Amino acid sequence: MGHRSHDLFLRAKKVTPGGVHSPVRAFRAVGGEPFFVAEAFGARLRDADGKEYVDYVGSWGPAILGHAHPEIIDSVRNAAGKGITFGTPHEGEVELASMICRMVPSLGKVRFCNSGTEATMSCVRLARGFTRRNKIVKFAGCYHGHSDALLVAAGSGPLTLGKPDSAGVTHGAVQDTLILPFNDLDAVRACFSKHGNEIAAVLIEPVPANVGLILPENGYLQGLREETEKYGSLLVFDEVMTGFRLGLGGAQDLYRIRPDLTAFGKVIGGGMPVGAFGGRAEIMDFLAPEGPVYQAGTLSGNPMAMAAGIAQLKILERGGIYERLEATGVLLEKTIRECLDGAGLNYPFVRLGSMFCLFLQPEGRKVKNLEDAKSCDREGYAKLFHQLLEEGVYFPPSQYETCFLSTAHGAGELELTRAALRKAFDRRA
Ligand SMILES: Cc1ncc(COP(=O)(O)O)c(C=O)c1O
Repeated sequence: MGHRSHDLFLRAKKVTPGGVHSPVRAFRAVGGEPFFVAEAFGARLRDADGKEYVDYVGSWGPAILGHAHPEIIDSVRNAAGKGITFGTPHEGEVELASMICRMVPSLGKVRFCNSGTEATMSCVRLARGFTRRNKIVKFAGCYHGHSDALLVAAGSGPLTLGKPDSAGVTHGAVQDTLILPFNDLDAVRACFSKHGNEIAAVLIEPVPANVGLILPENGYLQGLREETEKYGSLLVFDEVMTGFRLGLGGAQDLYRIRPDLTAFGKVIGGGMPVGAFGGRAEIMDFLAPEGPVYQAGTLSGNPMAMAAGIAQLKILERGGIYERLEATGVLLEKTIRECLDGAGLNYPFVRLGSMFCLFLQPEGRKVKNLEDAKSCDREGYAKLFHQLLEEGVYFPPSQYETCFLSTAHGAGELELTRAALRKAFDRRA
């Protein structure tokens, strides 16, 4: 670690728990110290010591067009000049909400908030208010932010009642959260046959991206749609990661499922702190001031955030972007598979559009759920992470995170990645 980053980290630790404002940034899963970023541009980060990295984290998802896209910067500058926050309705909110409702057919209405956590938390409250039921189903390994009811131990057995995943979360807060394994429809059916009439909602990352990257098996999401419909429960897609990332219509368009509610974040804010949730108008109108479910936010719909989101979505809508991301994804996949083959490694590599993950699963087994993900070589991943970082390639600092491509990744970035991977895999041999 460069000395400026090191000094900043020492200072940060004095004034902030662990020196970071979100735990994964502290590199605890891979050891060592985080680098501090001074500047981000295109597909690259430059740290406080001047070292450059090819960035496969992309601020954990928002940077689909790369960092500091000039059109987004201009929009934010322009909005800032007219006032940083109003706390009143304004045109930007109407424009972004209209764009989102037009692009995602399951949305009749949408409300903005400030993070993915707020979006999923509000979906749960709204689903409970709308159905007048208490229980929610979530899946082991799916992350929905850090609200109490959703911060439940991943990996609990099917049909067991949730246990808190964090000190400070009371048993009461999670007693109505049921945890099931991902990709197991029988577990869902068994759960519904027991609790179906008490279940307000099934909340799911349609493509789990917080245990590495896991794809839903054929018919799985369809099965959830059918089961929830049968019992009058709401199906809530957490598309904080996948929304506008896998395509304008997100995972729901890709897998042709119409959820009742959807949570968004990351890409919709163009890099600004934005969350949103939406669904059929009859459900959304249960929100205050129309209805009895309270939800609010001083900075919700912030004009600079709306401007960044509008600019990013306008570019995404221009056409060609997702095709370009897919083409880069194909080339990157080829690069990584060649490096693996060259080193005689059979690790499963998963990619969906511009999201990917290299699982260090020692037997080369496919990863279908949290239990499979836990069988990966986390120490091996930590070593690989640091070797890549040394060569200027920044993968996420945990085996359980997903890598992201942006439209700014090109041949130069892929070549650097190839060279870094080759070197790292050679050293393992
Ligand atoms: C699928 C998913 N849902 C919710 C969240 C929480 O979003 P935020 O960190 O903006 O609160 C995340 C964050 O990574 C996420 O990946």
